[in-house]
Amino acid sequence: MRRCFIAGNWKMNKTVAESLALVRELRGAVSMVRDRVEVAIAPPFTALQAVAKALEDSNIGLAAQNCHFEGSGAFTGEVAAPMLKEVGCSWVILGHSERRQYFGETDEGVNKRIGAVVKAGMLPIVCVGETLAEREGGKTLEVVTRQVKGCLAGYSAVQGEKFVLAYEPVWAIGTGKTATSRQAQEVHAHIRMLLKEQWGAGVADQVRIQYGGSVKADNAAELLGMPDIDGALVGGASLKVADFAAIVKAKG
Ligand code: PGA
Repeated sequence: MRRCFIAGNWKMNKTVAESLALVRELRGAVSMVRDRVEVAIAPPFTALQAVAKALEDSNIGLAAQNCHFEGSGAFTGEVAAPMLKEVGCSWVILGHSERRQYFGETDEGVNKRIGAVVKAGMLPIVCVGETLAEREGGKTLEVVTRQVKGCLAGYSAVQGEKFVLAYEPVWAIGTGKTATSRQAQEVHAHIRMLLKEQWGAGVADQVRIQYGGSVKADNAAELLGMPDIDGALVGGASLKVADFAAIVKAKG
């Protein structure tokens, strides 16, 4: 059985003080799902260390929103995976469409970043998803196939077993438009088929695939009810305690 995994991507929001205020409320609001649902939050880099402390003895894990693929070096403005591990991260979101769209990140770069994350002792949440033009051009599965294969190339079944993937149709991110549960399920099933080709049925069956893109309290239950949707990567709604808590509790 795949354990439902809800992660909150705070993007470029919240100062340290604001992050701590949000975490204080969040801890209580999601504590009751301890066994059934895995929960993580991804604050901005500046707040990670303080948030890690504030999360001690809670059931909320800590994720970063990106990292560089080298362990250290002359890369002004970048943050390395071992630095994230040191401040308490267990997860790193990689290949988010905003990284791809605004910062030119590619599947090849994500592939290298996964290596850095794993080497540092953390796990990746690997994001894939098509744009509106690609969906309308009937290219969704082709694009997602290229992204999944490109990002995961070279990683073994033993490593991949614990990776998390996130299907985030770009047209649904921050737009209020959600993929229907059927549209999402179709792509999730396709991704699981790709994982099966690469790592075999046993591993493909264990890897969790989150859905992301305007997930809200009122659509979470339906999305999470689909057979291949194992959680959610939540942007906007993760900044509001009541909304995020309702999503965390949405799975029956
Ligand atoms: P959204 O963002 O929930 O605000 O659409 C999702 C994401 O970008 O991970």
